Amino acid sequence: MQITFETKPYPTLETEALVTYIFEGDDPIQARVADIDRAAGGLLKKLATSGELTGKTLEFTLLHAPAGLKAERLLLIGAGKRDQFNVATLRKIAGAAARSLKAKSVKNFAFLANGGLSPEDTAQAIAEGLIAGDFETDKYKTDKKADKRIDSVAMVGFSDSEKPAAEKGLTRGQIIADSQNFTRDLVNEPSNKLTPRVLAEKAEAMAKEAGLAVDILDEKRIADLKMGALLSVAQGSVEPPRVIVVTYTPAKAKSDAPVIGLVGKAVTFDTGGISIKPADGMEKMKYDMAGGATMLGVMRALAALKPNVKVIGVVPATENMPGGKAQKPGDIQTAMSGKTIEVLNTDAEGRLILADAITYAKQLGATHLVDAATLTGAIVVALANINVGVFGSADQSWTDKLLASARATGEKMWQLPMDDEYREFIKGSFADIQNIGTGKGGGSITGAWFIREFAGDTPWIHLDIAGTAWNDDAKPWLAKGPTGVSLRTLVHLVSTF
Ligand code: BES
Ligand code: ZN
Ligand code: ZN
Repeated sequence: MQITFETKPYPTLETEALVTYIFEGDDPIQARVADIDRAAGGLLKKLATSGELTGKTLEFTLLHAPAGLKAERLLLIGAGKRDQFNVATLRKIAGAAARSLKAKSVKNFAFLANGGLSPEDTAQAIAEGLIAGDFETDKYKTDKKADKRIDSVAMVGFSDSEKPAAEKGLTRGQIIADSQNFTRDLVNEPSNKLTPRVLAEKAEAMAKEAGLAVDILDEKRIADLKMGALLSVAQGSVEPPRVIVVTYTPAKAKSDAPVIGLVGKAVTFDTGGISIKPADGMEKMKYDMAGGATMLGVMRALAALKPNVKVIGVVPATENMPGGKAQKPGDIQTAMSGKTIEVLNTDAEGRLILADAITYAKQLGATHLVDAATLTGAIVVALANINVGVFGSADQSWTDKLLASARATGEKMWQLPMDDEYREFIKGSFADIQNIGTGKGGGSITGAWFIREFAGDTPWIHLDIAGTAWNDDAKPWLAKGPTGVSLRTLVHLVSTF
């Protein structure tokens, strides 16, 4: 999708549709929409008075052949109350506009900014919404007639003095949304098309194109590093594991600057292993690599945004399969760190592969860690599919920084407690620790505590994205399937250094 700035007065634009947003309130016909209303002979005011046009969030009003405009259609989208308006709402508005118009086979339209946010934030949010909204998960459909995409969007409504900031926002939004779609593309791949080796190849190709350093550890190097926890998961599959390491180094890093380690779970398919999952819904476990795909997408964005801090992405990739060589409940494994683990449930495999990846990220020099993983079904019980679960180590200032980035980008995240009492749940009977908690409840927290044991004193955050990385149903602004959640927060977090 091409997005350009258009300086022609919007009433004269010959386009398939002119889209803008209105705020809920006593009079939703404000600012530029008031000009349109005058040109249209008061039609919009009339709709507002009758109660048809209110400005409620994502209310859609589509008018054909609007008087006073050269556009074929006028699409007004509700933005809710002005004092609650934010980038997340504008992103949804832009995404919903793209999705509804392409469903009507519109290919080109104009989007009129109608205030509410700074020019930079406005342009960024519109670009992000449009590009993410245009993404479809129809790669494997052969009927290309159904392949509807938006070709181009003209952004209008920025004055000459606002233009430089808006241009900056547009570029940033394009980079971020393209990277989010890169992540979503990976997550959407079925496991027969995306094995750990294929994921590594795709990561390598991305890194080379983006100008990032990349190192792919094969099964031999993984064994040489004694990554026993990762290998224990991989041993049940005929597909060998990989550890993908992608590094961004800034041109001028300060010597005392932090080094951020981004670790992402990439189980390209999770059957549960010998502790096998029920058949019902198992097909969804192709998205068990969403954490890894997110970190690769973040690295791709950082290569273009060039922040001032070094970032190392570490993605352990494996299948979790039952089989003659698979690990069995009760098996004791030695992780790379030397800690011994009693594997009580082979379906709690994400924490095993993260354990070694975190140890390796620290060995590579990471001073601050974030991991993202589709780790537990329990996080869906706690937070449904609304919030990402956030878990932190003792260094709350690091977690607060991430939560601030989540708020700034409008990604919903919620911190859960990590009291020492929960740590007791994973104390091992026959090894140092066990991979599931004894007793009932707190499954997401015990999972987090397991990973924290390997982060040690290094400031660390764990994001449980099991409930939020996949949309079971399409939203007006986003297709069914992978969401790319937490990429924007992480890009923002890294950009604050
Ligand atoms: N990949 C799953 C978690 C998951 C569940 C992701 C639902 C997405 C949707 C993970 O490996 C897993 O199976 N976790 C177990 C942990 C349990 C055995 C302690 C779970 O949540 O049941
Ligand atoms: Zn599992
Ligand atoms: Zn899993």
